[in-house]
Amino acid sequence: MATTAIITGASSGIGKAYVDALLKSPDCPEKVWVVARRIDRLEALAAGSEKIVPVQADLLSDEGIKVIKDKLSEGGADVTLLINCAGMGKKGNIADRTASDIRDTVTLNCTALSVLTREVIPYMNRGARIINVGSSAAYLPQPGFTVYAASKSYVVSFSRALAIELKKLGITVTVVCPGPVETEFNKLATDGKSDKFTGFRKFVAADADKLAASSLKAARRGRRMYVYGPPNKALHVGAKFIPVGLFLELFYRG
Ligand SMILES: NC(=O)c1ccc[n+]([C@@H]2O[C@H](COP(=O)([O-])OP(=O)(O)OC[C@H]3O[C@@H](n4cnc5c(N)ncnc54)[C@H](OP(=O)(O)O)[C@@H]3O)[C@@H](O)[C@H]2O)c1
Repeated sequence: MATTAIITGASSGIGKAYVDALLKSPDCPEKVWVVARRIDRLEALAAGSEKIVPVQADLLSDEGIKVIKDKLSEGGADVTLLINCAGMGKKGNIADRTASDIRDTVTLNCTALSVLTREVIPYMNRGARIINVGSSAAYLPQPGFTVYAASKSYVVSFSRALAIELKKLGITVTVVCPGPVETEFNKLATDGKSDKFTGFRKFVAADADKLAASSLKAARRGRRMYVYGPPNKALHVGAKFIPVGLFLELFYRG
């Protein structure tokens, strides 16, 4: 049975950077399943390496999860790495967002990540690793990005608890929390209005390739939480001490 990595959100940004970093690493599995909706991009990845297997799946739907589940049960696989990277967010106050924006964010970032993990675990053995991509948005509530921040708090909580559940099976779980990263994410989050970060975020924005390479190393070391970059680390520590109510009063005027 082929050793296999499954990477969701592999058609762009951080997920694609994980694919590139994994292919360069000495412990790259025999097969790398790249999962997303845009099949043309997945096929372009596959043209660069025989290891890559494109898997077109819309993770907002049960059918999308079933595509991966069926592929696992039909062909079998020894999944040594699962990277749950697919994610989305929509900026703006809740009252200004549609019901489907809200539903899709929670479904993709929380439900799909959890259900897919559950479906993959039976195909993992001792030494396997799971990486879940969280965010610095997980540390504190964010008016104007309410659902996204809450969904990433879920990812952190889910991952930290799952790490304990899977310890006896010898499977590690690492939740990776980056600050801003230059990808397609911001353009989608702002409905195409801004494809670049502005203000403070512009100066601290991380490089997706460096993030992917260093978080793969953190996962190899068995780290349960990996906060990427010094400004983000400072925010993470600060968020443990500042009362949430005071933070919201100081930084958000309503
Ligand atoms: N960029 C940042 O500043 C930042 C910061 C912290 C955390 N993150 C997190 O990093 C992860 C990756 O984001 P990114 O920055 O790389 O953004 P991105 O470039 O927009 O990539 C998002 C990926 O998710 C996939 N995806 C979206 N909806 C999907 C669906 N319904 N079914 C299957 N795949 C879907 C997209 O592929 P298709 O469109 O082809 O389906 C794409 O490959 C997300 O979880 C995000 O929350 C990003």
